[in-house]
Amino acid sequence: MLYIGIDLGTSAVKLLLMDSEGNIKNIVSKEYPLYFPHPGWSEQKPEDWYEQTMLGIEELLAGADKSQVAGISFGGQMHGLVILDENDEVIRPAILWNDGRTTEECDYLNNVIGKEKLSEYTANISFTGFTAPKILWVKNKEPENFARIKKIMLPKDYIAYKLTGVHCTDVSDASGMLVFDVKNRKWSKEMCDICGISEEQLATCYESYEAVGTVLPEIAAKLGIPETVKVAAGAGDNAAAAVGTGTVGDGMCNISLGTSGTVFISSRNFGVDKFNALHSFAHADGSYHLMGCMLSAASCNKWWMDEILKTKDYGAEQAGIEKLGENHVYFLPYLMGERSPHNDPAARGTFIGMTMDTTREDMTQAVLEGVAYALRDSFEVAKELGIKIERTKICGGGAKSPLWKKMIANILNIKVDIIESEEGPAMGGAMLAAVACGEYASVEEIAAKIVKVVDTVEPTPELAEKYEARYQQFKQIYPALKPVFQVIK
Ligand code: XUL
Repeated sequence: MLYIGIDLGTSAVKLLLMDSEGNIKNIVSKEYPLYFPHPGWSEQKPEDWYEQTMLGIEELLAGADKSQVAGISFGGQMHGLVILDENDEVIRPAILWNDGRTTEECDYLNNVIGKEKLSEYTANISFTGFTAPKILWVKNKEPENFARIKKIMLPKDYIAYKLTGVHCTDVSDASGMLVFDVKNRKWSKEMCDICGISEEQLATCYESYEAVGTVLPEIAAKLGIPETVKVAAGAGDNAAAAVGTGTVGDGMCNISLGTSGTVFISSRNFGVDKFNALHSFAHADGSYHLMGCMLSAASCNKWWMDEILKTKDYGAEQAGIEKLGENHVYFLPYLMGERSPHNDPAARGTFIGMTMDTTREDMTQAVLEGVAYALRDSFEVAKELGIKIERTKICGGGAKSPLWKKMIANILNIKVDIIESEEGPAMGGAMLAAVACGEYASVEEIAAKIVKVVDTVEPTPELAEKYEARYQQFKQIYPALKPVFQVIK
């Protein structure tokens, strides 16, 4: 049988076709625009996602035996607010995970409602990118749109709805809304009241590997696939990536180096850290996970290469970087503000430490290292909680760079396991579809059978020591600049 995994990302939708044994038969990527209507705002059109996804599926299946397609599922960018009216039409562009407009609403939630209550109801506190503050923002700033809301959805759920006609979501993605009781895996009545919405306005919540329905007859006809094709709820992109890299069960780690950067730690048991510095979310394998999320990771390098250096040859730029652990230039990767662990929408990208002999290579190196140092910031929080991590998997566009992987291994001082395919969320989506169709009994079973580690990048004591000293310096820059970011915003 064949399974389609759809990774609804921020810069593009990536589609992957997998067979029953986990072999990748085809991969297709389709881009769509990202809008920044004001500094710090970030929006996309759900209609663009759907259009490109449909074109992508057609391209993905060209040449395949379409009668063999059995299931479809997703990994999707998390937290985005998609609102539909009574005719299931999109009311306004989706407000994305890296949008920073909800500072006031977050202050209200964290300080007036209070972090203790939020943590009690949802296991998390409010961050500007989360969905609940966006619902409040629409309520406060666009009351006419708020009054029209019939359904509130997350990005990938809009695609699932268009394919099946079912309003659904899954536990991992719902966790990032701040209206979900993560521990008990159900909507929080208290948070619905706080946001001024009813539970009926939210979608039905499934486990990630559960089928929500089958494709609509007109979709089956358009794509040339059987009407029996099942659509599984899928997962937020980080949980899907964790499935795709075999980060399931207890105490496993995955780093995702995509537009955002995440440190994801799977856990069989529910847990919350004292200051809610890490997100405590449900996992797509039926258990839980902790996660630190930086808002700009591979996107910092993309910005530096595409917008500033005006080059597409990332490999050539990295080839000249030789003096690892010796760079006196630092880069703060906060181009969209920062979430974990600083929770500061006003933070900004910064180069510091240049001298007259600073080279282009030093600056490129600083960008890559700055992202790795910021990942270490989240990693440190996990360590403080007593979680021992000796190795991690890695996925996402940035994971294609051997140099970046070496930096991460040495800056975090952990072994980085390279798996056969870096297609985290799309692979995870296809795997969830295979479980929903009964091809495998559980997410843990399919991960154990098909995810293969092919190489490991080990830190070397000498380089890890040099980077340790550099990280101690990096750590001092943000606190020193924090007041300045408030002034220049
Ligand atoms: C996770 C987060 C990002 C997005 C990126 O909390 O906001 O990783 O899911 O797509």
